[in-house]
Amino acid sequence: MGSWQNPYKTEVETSGHSLILDQPESGWQQADIKSFISTSKKYRALFLEFGSGSGQHLIAQAAANPTNFYLGVELRYKRCVRAAQKAALEGLENILFFRGDGVALIHSIEENLLDGIFILFPDPWEKPKWQKNRILQAKNLPLFLEKLKVGGTLHYRTDHAEYFSSAVSLLKSQSEWGLNYVTYDMLKSEYRELTLPSEFELLFRSQQKPIHAIEVIKG
Ligand SMILES: C[S@@+](CC[C@H](N)C(=O)[O-])C[C@H]1O[C@@H](n2cnc3c(N)ncnc32)[C@H](O)[C@@H]1O
Repeated sequence: MGSWQNPYKTEVETSGHSLILDQPESGWQQADIKSFISTSKKYRALFLEFGSGSGQHLIAQAAANPTNFYLGVELRYKRCVRAAQKAALEGLENILFFRGDGVALIHSIEENLLDGIFILFPDPWEKPKWQKNRILQAKNLPLFLEKLKVGGTLHYRTDHAEYFSSAVSLLKSQSEWGLNYVTYDMLKSEYRELTLPSEFELLFRSQQKPIHAIEVIKG
């Protein structure tokens, strides 16, 4: 009996998808990344969403802000393919997706490239022994600073109180970041109109869970 093949992986590998760049086994190459996003140069600002999932947030951003360009990076083939299909159906030209590991991707992109990074409802890796996998942790912050332009923003939202508090303490302790805003209950705050929801955010909203949000700026 043959081993199971992820049909979404097969789809990306065989037919390709003009909106998806798949992570090569040898790792991301800066030249490939550059040529994939070369069209973004015509746009006013460039944003990256880490763990873009089904694309709900990024697609809404791209549709609402046609003069900006949006990049998503998503580990899972199925979510990435679904997001790219939705973006294509909407006829969006200002959005692209990387299928692969976001940390490896961020390592491989140019410095001072991004106007903003979104990290929305990242996996919380609750057990202490797994917390080394969290995207928002001390070792990744210099990487975000390096890839953001001066004045670029890092935007983080989650329902997870402990992960949020630890990230807020970390960001506030670093003088390279300025605080735009922080709220432990975004929907009841004055910042509720500033953002577009992701798929997970809509789920947590429907469960009446408070949404925590912070936005910091590279000084
Ligand atoms: C909890 S989901 C949230 C999805 C989306 N941001 C939202 O708010 O609806 C986290 C997503 O991050 C993706 N992810 C986890 N680790 C990743 C990594 N290292 N690189 C890229 N994506 C990752 C997962 O596959 C998953 O789709």
